[in-house]
Amino acid sequence: MGNCCSVQCSFENFLLRGWDFIVGHANYVCKLKQTLPTLSAALQELRALRNDVQREVDVADQRLLKPFERVQLWLSTADTMITEAENLVSHGPQQMNNLCLGGCISENCLSSYKFGKRVAEMLQEISDHKSKGAFEKVAEDQPAASVVVRPLEQPVALESTIQKVWSCIEDKDVGIIGLYGLGGVGKTTLLTQINNKFGTTGNDFKVVIWALVSKDYDVGKIQDRIGENIGFLESWKNKSVDQKAVDIYGILSNKRFVVLLDDLWERMDLNQVGIPKPSQENGSKLIFTTRYLEVCGEMVARKKIKVECLEPWELFQDKVGDETLNSHPDIPNLAKQVAERCGGLPLSLITIGRAMACKTTLGEWKHAIEMLKRCALPKMENEGLNYVKNQMLKHGKE
Ligand SMILES: Nc1ncnc2c1ncn2[C@@H]1O[C@H](COP(=O)(O)OP(=O)(O)OP(=O)(O)O)[C@@H](O)[C@H]1O
Ligand SMILES: [Mg+2]
Repeated sequence: MGNCCSVQCSFENFLLRGWDFIVGHANYVCKLKQTLPTLSAALQELRALRNDVQREVDVADQRLLKPFERVQLWLSTADTMITEAENLVSHGPQQMNNLCLGGCISENCLSSYKFGKRVAEMLQEISDHKSKGAFEKVAEDQPAASVVVRPLEQPVALESTIQKVWSCIEDKDVGIIGLYGLGGVGKTTLLTQINNKFGTTGNDFKVVIWALVSKDYDVGKIQDRIGENIGFLESWKNKSVDQKAVDIYGILSNKRFVVLLDDLWERMDLNQVGIPKPSQENGSKLIFTTRYLEVCGEMVARKKIKVECLEPWELFQDKVGDETLNSHPDIPNLAKQVAERCGGLPLSLITIGRAMACKTTLGEWKHAIEMLKRCALPKMENEGLNYVKNQMLKHGKE
């Protein structure tokens, strides 16, 4: 009796499952008339959302921001889904043709069932994927560009000037700072120290950019230097000056930046290069060096800091070296006179100091003083300085 009952139950189960299958089958097939147009509409929406996200990723790419991996994965899944949904939609008319008896029976039952089922699943998948595609941000800002530390010999007696400049940098009212002074007085050295200090001292600047300007500068080349600092690709350099300016502006106006321009000989048009004007709002800074106070005025520098000549002895002594200075008791005194005649210009002190580093006779030192009396060393450019140096090196050899 028990056996008979269980056989009956299994048979009923079998019938029920069979019925479910037939109903499910009929459902998928019957609903094709509605699900197919719904799929077309869902496909269109997914395509539009995909295009929007892709456009945002393209903009991020142009700004050198790295798209999130989850966004890239979403895009590639969307692409696969779009292809499959297009395929289903394109087969829709043919599948509809197979239907008869009010659209509930198909001439090819199995194929229609599979098709209808896939359409229903696809609708669900597209709906799920669309809900995952509402990204607030598609890319993260690139990590703060670390400062490119520039090589520098340990400077002498520069600390107080560095502090002066640094306190201007910390002053939020000061956006543009001009460092001016004689040729060879140490402006580039000072600016280099400032650049390197950004790498070691806590600050919230996102990018520190160094560009050498010099006489008769080429705007495109300055932009290339800035582009390298920001991280633009090599091929970016082929763009026009105008386009580069737009790109540089686009990046820098979204970051708290420091631009260090070395050796300005005239006013530089910041707009032409693409450098946004530092302001209290953006908190950015522009620091430049020049030989001329007038250039500080033309650049509308909020602070103008004069780079002064050094106390000559420390640097000169360092370059000549103790061995030579101690080689005769009268040499230190003569050496001090030579150092004084260098006028506190590091460039002169270094050049002449190195030339005298191997001079150990009083005659050589006296000759040096005589030579320096005859020329106006502090006003000399490199060529003149090299001539004096060579004369000193030659002494005693002829
Ligand atoms: N404080 C210092 N201590 C040691 N060396 C220094 C110091 N200042 C400058 N020098 C050295 O003096 C030389 C000239 O300095 P720098 O190039 O900085 O001068 P500058 O003012 O930028 O000159 P220019 O106007 O020609 O650009 C460099 O060799 C530099 O290393
Ligand atoms: Mg310089």
